Amino acid sequence: MTAAQEDSVGATPLIELRNITKVYGEGGLAFQALKGVDLRIEQGDFVAIMGPSGSGKSTAMNTLGCLDRPTTGEYLFKGAHVETLTRDERALLRRRFFGFVFQGFHLLPRTTALENVELPLLYRGEPTAKRHAAARKALAAVGLTGWEHHTPSELSGGQQQRVAIARAIVTEPVVLLADEPTGNLDSQRSGEIMELLWRLNAELGITVLMVTHEPDMAAYARRIVRFVDGLLDSDHANPAPVMLAREALAAAPFGEAL
Ligand SMILES: Nc1ncnc2c1ncn2[C@@H]1O[C@H](COP(=O)(O)OP(=O)(O)OP(=O)(O)O)[C@@H](O)[C@H]1O
Ligand SMILES: [Mg+2]
Repeated sequence: MTAAQEDSVGATPLIELRNITKVYGEGGLAFQALKGVDLRIEQGDFVAIMGPSGSGKSTAMNTLGCLDRPTTGEYLFKGAHVETLTRDERALLRRRFFGFVFQGFHLLPRTTALENVELPLLYRGEPTAKRHAAARKALAAVGLTGWEHHTPSELSGGQQQRVAIARAIVTEPVVLLADEPTGNLDSQRSGEIMELLWRLNAELGITVLMVTHEPDMAAYARRIVRFVDGLLDSDHANPAPVMLAREALAAAPFGEAL
């Protein structure tokens, strides 16, 4: 358990979903994507969200990230009711506390890595010098020092996803939401992105919620939640996240490691 998790034991969870439902469309075309989801997420958690296509993972992520409102149910963020907020209030909450990473990177083309990472700060109205400094720091945190002035077309897929992660953390979010962040990457690059997410969680204490279809990637998380048909099907701690197992192996005397 991390220090952040120890602090939060018994306290209000960072996030709590209570009987959340989501219906898309109306009348005969209505589709219930979430059918009553309860979920508690503690500060400092690293959760992999798995489940078949169409099971409601992205819908749940959009709700968790305050991008979309549930149809019914309660969403508490640090004890505050999100479901009652207006669209503008939700946007403020989102910009203050959340960072987002998607499968398809979503970087602006013909725009340098530095400018892409600065964008959320530009929306916040931060002055130029502060934006530059924060973006350089975020790029350094994802291992891209020296690549600040490259545009996305001059970067590999793995590097582009690192830029997208730098853009997501430049605002110092409490929660990082990643919907299939390794979906467009080969296994080597995927592993590197997962190591990065692990470090952001373990070293910076950022709560990470990540959708993945790949068990190898879910194995990096501290907890694995599975959706089936709009409901939470299982929720269990991962006793040996990849990076902890790797650290334990590295620390063990040579004979024991073999
Ligand atoms: N905007 C929308 N309008 C109507 N139906 C939607 C909308 N978004 C999602 N759905 C439906 O809700 C269900 C859940 O979709 P969701 O995107 O949450 O699934 P998912 O688990 O993320 O799947 P995948 O693994 O394919 O990304 C699907 O049947 C989908 O067709
Ligand atoms: Mg999805």
